[in-house]
Amino acid sequence: MRIGLLGCGTVGQAFVRTIAGQGETVARASGRRLEIGPILVRDATRARPGIAPAQLTTDPQDVLSDPEVDVIVEVMGGIEPTATYLRQALQGGTPVVTANKQLMSRQGADLLTLAETSGTELRFEASACAAIPVIKVLRESMLAAEISAVTGIVNGTTNYILSEMARAGLSYQEALAQAQALGYAEADPTEDVGGADAAAKMAILASIAFHTNVHFDDVPYEGIDGVHAEDLELARDLGFVVKLLGVARLGNGGISVRVHPALVPERHRLAAVMGPDNAVLLESGTVRQIMLVGPGAGGTETASAILADVLSILGTAKGSFLQNALVDAGRPLLRPDQTESAFYIRLRVMDRPGVLAQIATAFAEAGLSIRSVIQRGEGEAARLVLVTHVGSESRMNAAVAAMRDMDEVRSEPVLLRLLAEDAA
Ligand SMILES: NC(=O)c1ccc[n+]([C@@H]2O[C@H](COP(=O)([O-])OP(=O)(O)OC[C@H]3O[C@@H](n4cnc5c(N)ncnc54)[C@H](OP(=O)(O)O)[C@@H]3O)[C@@H](O)[C@H]2O)c1
Repeated sequence: MRIGLLGCGTVGQAFVRTIAGQGETVARASGRRLEIGPILVRDATRARPGIAPAQLTTDPQDVLSDPEVDVIVEVMGGIEPTATYLRQALQGGTPVVTANKQLMSRQGADLLTLAETSGTELRFEASACAAIPVIKVLRESMLAAEISAVTGIVNGTTNYILSEMARAGLSYQEALAQAQALGYAEADPTEDVGGADAAAKMAILASIAFHTNVHFDDVPYEGIDGVHAEDLELARDLGFVVKLLGVARLGNGGISVRVHPALVPERHRLAAVMGPDNAVLLESGTVRQIMLVGPGAGGTETASAILADVLSILGTAKGSFLQNALVDAGRPLLRPDQTESAFYIRLRVMDRPGVLAQIATAFAEAGLSIRSVIQRGEGEAARLVLVTHVGSESRMNAAVAAMRDMDEVRSEPVLLRLLAEDAA
């Protein structure tokens, strides 16, 4: 089986090394020998270890129109010209494996339909959580399991930063600098810390889990840049750890998919996922809970997921039971204000009699009930932390608006959501 590569950077080079190292095992198991054919790059003059210069090209047609190529592996990233190349490959009936979350979270449904109508396959395991086989589990093992929730720590950079802030008491900036020094964070970490990377992965996972096309733009996201060391300490006092969570739920007559920092009860299984690891908790009435944990990035880890996809194509070619296109279950996507959570709110207030009662009234008028309160005097002011029971985002927004209008409230309320089992 001859593989045409689009891109040969961190993941592409690791894939070439993996094929060289695992070739014998693959040949024994599958009866086919894998070989790397033409490789598209931007700069073909730069030497890459283990790759003959003659394999490198800057002309995409050397890969896309090569009749000897049996499968295309796309590890160049980005939306264009990548999408155009993949369309050409699929239209021509060539199976494609991609690691591209940006593309799959925006055009995945269309590309899968194109693969199906062209009688070929599009596989994308490495596009969400790298080496964790979560897409295969959702698409095959749990195809009929009626998933009710997918909750994930799907970005290793932010999980590392939050873990180090909590463990070593580092500030956000210190923990980010440490993550960059260790290679867990990119020089430009915006996509990771801002939540966009996690939102792309959650769009992909929710689309498969709920048989509905969830586009990247459908996923509201918040990052961890606004999480303070102070909130991690207060959360610990309340019995929680803070994680950047992707939360996709079926409930209230629709689907909600979001990414935000959240308070996770310290005994919850997601609370134990530390450092750069990823984890995805799959919930369903039939199998209760299944959690998958492992490395969510890295060249070698991502290459292993790509190889698994290539082998699946070998194993299921002609007569696969898998449908390429998304099955449309006709479920509506809920607006963010229709979703529900329990909330943690931190604010500074004047330390005067009656202030707490005034705040409690704002919550009661908004229809939210309070679960616990911590108040600490700090001179003339007091730090107030409230944790609510589950309520809608629109109710919480009303309570926050009322608090902002009070003279006694001396800071912008800091709002985090709790991971609550009963939230939708
Ligand atoms: N790195 C990870 O841990 C990881 C994990 C999961 C998924 N992914 C996904 O895997 C994909 C690749 O990531 P990576 O880290 O390997 O990226 P990378 O190191 O930047 O490599 C990109 C490769 O694609 C080539 N390329 C980019 N644009 C091109 C264009 N327009 N025409 C021709 N060649 C082009 C580059 O050529 P040159 O070498 O000439 O510059 C390079 O070889 C991305 O979609 C990423 O999201 C990465």
